[in-house]
Amino acid sequence: MIRKAKYNDTASIQNLICIFSETGKVLFRSFDEIRENISSFWVYEKNDQVVGVCSLKRGWGRLVELRSLGVDPRYSGQGIGTKMIEASLKEAMSTDCDELFVLTYAVSMFKRLGFSTIDKAKLPHKVWNDCNACLHQENCDETAMVLSLASLRQKKAIQTLPTAAAI
Ligand SMILES: CC(C)(COP(=O)(O)OP(=O)(O)OC[C@H]1O[C@@H](n2cnc3c(N)ncnc32)[C@H](O)[C@@H]1OP(=O)(O)O)[C@@H](O)C(=O)NCCC(=O)NCCS
Repeated sequence: MIRKAKYNDTASIQNLICIFSETGKVLFRSFDEIRENISSFWVYEKNDQVVGVCSLKRGWGRLVELRSLGVDPRYSGQGIGTKMIEASLKEAMSTDCDELFVLTYAVSMFKRLGFSTIDKAKLPHKVWNDCNACLHQENCDETAMVLSLASLRQKKAIQTLPTAAAI
């Protein structure tokens, strides 16, 4: 079951993020940071355990970032990661942001979900402040990918237009 995170998920979220931050796949998040931003997290719960996590970060102007995506390796390949991305995308669509971006190693996965690769230099400079907490720092080999929320909204609006016959 996918759901928004609650305060008492903080420790489970942090444990999960730590598995991946140790290898630089996601950025480390402190307990306090997760707790303060708990409303930005989604979790995937299975058998009363948090086995997937993902969050949306605002504050980049018209961009919103999908970050802290991780699935417990014991549950990988079951579609949980995809569901977490889809839930985040749905939430991003309800904001006033124009683009959803991600810095990732899972390029083929995001490509399949409609993201495309962009030059990292096109992201706002302040995004890189967060990289001080990353193992790789200036040797960043992640790929920046974006999905246009504006075009998705337009497509949706066109799909919901009444057909000529219905007018
Ligand atoms: C990436 C991750 C979230 C995928 O979670 P998951 O629940 O296994 O994903 P899904 O089951 O929805 O898999 C979707 C597809 O993506 C593929 N995929 C998974 N991880 C991938 C990766 N690192 N690179 C490319 N493709 C990947 C899967 O093989 C699967 O493909 P298939 O449908 O053809 O079999 C998970 O492997 C993980 O936590 N990785 C470590 C942390 C990380 O890299 N996070 C991404 C940071 S943005």
